Amino acid sequence: MTLVERVTSRRTCKAFDPARRVDAAAMEQLKTLLRFAPSSVNSQPWHFVIADSEAAKARITDTLQGGFAYNAAKARNASHLVVFCARRSLDEAHLAEVLAHEDAVGRFGTPEAKAGQHTSRNFYVGLHRDQLQDLDAWIDRQVYLALGTLLLGAAELGIDACPMEGIDCAGLDAALGLEARGLRSVVMVALGYRSDDDFNAVLPKSRLPAAAVITTL
Ligand SMILES: Cc1cc2nc3c(=O)[nH]c(=O)nc-3n(C[C@H](O)[C@H](O)[C@H](O)COP(=O)(O)O)c2cc1C
Repeated sequence: MTLVERVTSRRTCKAFDPARRVDAAAMEQLKTLLRFAPSSVNSQPWHFVIADSEAAKARITDTLQGGFAYNAAKARNASHLVVFCARRSLDEAHLAEVLAHEDAVGRFGTPEAKAGQHTSRNFYVGLHRDQLQDLDAWIDRQVYLALGTLLLGAAELGIDACPMEGIDCAGLDAALGLEARGLRSVVMVALGYRSDDDFNAVLPKSRLPAAAVITTL
């Protein structure tokens, strides 16, 4: 199947088969996709919390109450849950760690190149934190790139997925102790294999026509 065929045939999974697990090798591939997602100035302002046991999933599904209860069964019956987290700040320690990794893999031919990268990254962080004052939104945009990467990768690997914004972020932050780790939850993905009663599996996919969403100049 071509990539376009994958994308046009994948469907959000609305009901998972609780008996089926995503195997460890496939999960390792998905973790690699998460780590290698692109981000502005390679800021990697994210962390991914993965629940791969019934007990771990329960800590998350217990927070899906009230208006979010419609997602509880999906999360409970999924094989794995991935909570996409954003860093609450982009402090000097994180920026220094990113720079050190770039240096270690040999991305800088000269000290000036390394200093230039640090200056450039700091400029963007300062732009969003101090001038535009939209640092959290900027960070969230990077996190969503990892979300898209995971959804595409899952489709390619034949794994069903349900992205979920219908989560109680404050409740999740408390349940997983995220604030103490300098993190906040943003979005979640349930992974697994759909059950026979997933109504969405047979519904036609619906997208606006190309002319409505694409302009070629
Ligand atoms: C960021 C995001 C959040 C979503 N949140 C939910 C959710 O909370 N619960 C759910 O059942 N589906 C959720 N969806 C699935 C969308 O409804 C679905 O992607 C959309 O209708 C297109 O259908 P398709 O993915 O099958 O092509 C979400 C999708 C995205 C991309």
